Amino acid sequence: MAYAAFRSIGAYTPSKILTNEELATMVDTTDEWITKRTGIKERHIASENETTSDMGVEASKLAIQRSGIDASDIDMLICATISPDYFCMPSTATTISKKLGLGNVTAFDISAACTGFVYILSIAKAFIESGMKKNVLIVGAEKLSAITDYTDRGTCILFGDGAGAAVISATDNKEEAIIDVHTGADGTYADLLMTPNGGTGSPHDAIEQEAGSCFMQMKGNETFKVAVRTLTKDVVEILEVNNIKSEEIKHFVPHQANYRIIKAVGDALKLTKEQVVVTVEKYGNTSGASIPMAINDIYENGSLKSGELLLLDAFGGGLTWGSALVPFSPLTK
Ligand code: ACO
Repeated sequence: MAYAAFRSIGAYTPSKILTNEELATMVDTTDEWITKRTGIKERHIASENETTSDMGVEASKLAIQRSGIDASDIDMLICATISPDYFCMPSTATTISKKLGLGNVTAFDISAACTGFVYILSIAKAFIESGMKKNVLIVGAEKLSAITDYTDRGTCILFGDGAGAAVISATDNKEEAIIDVHTGADGTYADLLMTPNGGTGSPHDAIEQEAGSCFMQMKGNETFKVAVRTLTKDVVEILEVNNIKSEEIKHFVPHQANYRIIKAVGDALKLTKEQVVVTVEKYGNTSGASIPMAINDIYENGSLKSGELLLLDAFGGGLTWGSALVPFSPLTK
């Protein structure tokens, strides 16, 4: 049987930074409130003509270069995004594939909001273990600024843009294989986080009448409570099922939505500060891109080493959730 190894990571952040102080000139908020309630200090914002796929391409180039495999060996590309280049088609995955010149590869998008990266990791693992694919490029990319209502202080302070990518490859060596990925969803909470209009679920004239209804809307406080509960339960389950103790986790990489959520989950699991990866202060919430951007940060600052165990944990609109136990297994040690 083939196993799936997490070979490499790459990320891209647009150069423009939007600070809390700047947001305070746009909506009724303060740096103090945002910092205290979310931990966010700034977020990166894509330029007007920079698309989700453009950012995905830059992250992918790094991930491919660091993977040690040739781009021509990639046989599948999956993109997790809720801010695709085009509403229906073509998919952002096929657009990234075209820009990278990958030729004939299976390519498609999935929509699982902030859990998107864990979902595409599970799909890559399944395709590789089944023997159907050998090298899968997975990309989480978001231009959330394009679907953010900058008159709504409850959401605009949270979101940022960016992309992260990873190469997942087949291996015979079980030691370097992704151990497990869990994914779940409960549609009964769908209304906590949504973009109400713009799809077939709402009449077109409602869009014209209700300006701004294609933007993200969130019941933040209710979402917060479900997030802490779900993220903690998720991690307890995946550790138990795989008989792994929390001390064995080198890097806990949760979805970066809010420092208070990350802290509450870390404390509930009795993780040390050193184990918990936090990047929310500089990127805000980049949805499907947040986990690979955070992994890229610890890779680039030298704290992520070959063979170390990552625990990923995500939660987002849908509602969706997921967790994964992933040894970092680069080809080049
Ligand atoms: N500045 C100042 N005051 C504000 C702001 C702001 N930016 N936003 C809200 N407030 C006010 C509210 O109006 C409210 O005032 P009131 O008490 O007079 O009514 C007060 O602050 C408290 O509001 P809450 O919504 O209860 O604040 P909370 O502490 O819950 O923080 C937040 C809000 C940051 C949105 C938090 O609830 C959160 O992070 N939620 C979860 C986000 C998340 O995990 N989402 C899932 C992933 S996202 C995805 O999938 C795309």
